[in-house]
Amino acid sequence: MPALPARTFALLLEGAVRGVRRIASETLSMKFSFSIAAATAAMLLAHSSARAAEGDAARGEKIYDRCAGCHSIERDRTGPRHAGLFGRRAGSVAGFPYSEAMKQSGIVWDAAQLDGFLTSPRGLVPGTRIGFAGVPDPKDRADLIAYLEQATKP
Ligand code: HEC
Repeated sequence: MPALPARTFALLLEGAVRGVRRIASETLSMKFSFSIAAATAAMLLAHSSARAAEGDAARGEKIYDRCAGCHSIERDRTGPRHAGLFGRRAGSVAGFPYSEAMKQSGIVWDAAQLDGFLTSPRGLVPGTRIGFAGVPDPKDRADLIAYLEQATKP
């Protein structure tokens, strides 16, 4: 499968899974919760296999060299630490001097938002003070995001 459709598929699935999870938690006490849980499990299964095919984390670690001038996983540098990035609200590392634009962006970091941000930081967050033009190649971004997802886990 060409890289782009596979990724698009994975992103679509991810959105669907998130929606189902939300519905599942809101309707936990209802009689439909069992079938929703089963559907969620099935989608999660499809999701993780789509995911595994999608990004090469080992290659992504090398691409992270482009970020390492300003970022590290564990420590704040010119840019904020990336530890715990997935599921974190943008602009929320305590004590890091973010731009107002980042703090007010309303983003919660996941693979789809990171893909948008890394395509064009200023496109997604106009007024961000990240001094970085982006990662133009979709395969590079997918690999980088796969690496980040592993490396930033708490
Ligand atoms: C020249 C320095 C620099 C480079 C290179 C750089 N960044 Fe950043 N990054 C920053 C700064 C500064 C911020 C804070 C931006 C703001 O507050 O508007 C930031 C913010 C971010 C955020 C938001 C984090 C949060 O806590 O909300 C992410 C995600 C991010 N960078 C990822 C990357 C990745 C991935 C790369 C490499 C492909 C990269 N950055 C390269 C300086 C940099």
